[in-house]
Amino acid sequence: MKDFNSYFESIPELETERLRLTAFTREDMDAYFDILRDPKVQKYLGGGVPVFDKEPHISNWLRNINDRLLKRKIVFTWCIRDKESNRVVGRIDLGGFVKKTAAEISYHLSKDFWGREIATEAVERVTRFGLDELGLARIQGLVRIENQASIRVLEKNGYLREGLLHHYPFGREFHDVVMLAIVR
Ligand SMILES: CC(C)(COP(=O)(O)OP(=O)(O)OC[C@H]1O[C@@H](n2cnc3c(N)ncnc32)[C@H](O)[C@@H]1OP(=O)(O)O)[C@@H](O)C(=O)NCCC(=O)NCCS
Repeated sequence: MKDFNSYFESIPELETERLRLTAFTREDMDAYFDILRDPKVQKYLGGGVPVFDKEPHISNWLRNINDRLLKRKIVFTWCIRDKESNRVVGRIDLGGFVKKTAAEISYHLSKDFWGREIATEAVERVTRFGLDELGLARIQGLVRIENQASIRVLEKNGYLREGLLHHYPFGREFHDVVMLAIVR
């Protein structure tokens, strides 16, 4: 196994049967903003992910996720891409590392791709990356209790419900959220 620190030099490219997980590039951003403009995608994201579709915000964000936050070992942010069409499907993150042993997973997908087990496939790959390659002992996911589809995605990947956190800070809001986790 490579050393934990050595994974943070550039966003590692991960592949599944149908998906390619890569670093976001400038070319991906218009498609990504279209995904974020959909209220159905934003509904359970805790006040929403802002659509920062102007310069210098776009360049700053790309520099943050692909360089600054990565080098500081804070988060991996991947663009999820459908191999067959080469379309941008969404985003998945693994971050909030605690003592190189625990981390948190989060994701959102374009509505066009819901219901085809794409999130399940992406979460499966990132979970494997976290546990088997980074050597994490625990990955957790926090999901609003109303977001049953996302709870299913984690459960299908072996994450277990650990409890309900009441009025918990979630994005820019407070919500009742389910804590799910997979441990090694
Ligand atoms: C949540 C999300 C990632 C799911 O993506 P997806 O690719 O459609 O998920 P999958 O197809 O892999 O699995 C969804 C599961 O939830 C189930 N499901 C879908 N809607 C449901 C609902 N309203 N109630 C209960 N289960 C539901 C599906 O049947 C499927 O389970 P199954 O395979 O056992 O039948 C996607 O809807 C999304 O991006 N939502 C907006 C952003 C978001 O909520 N992100 C998560 C924040 S924690």
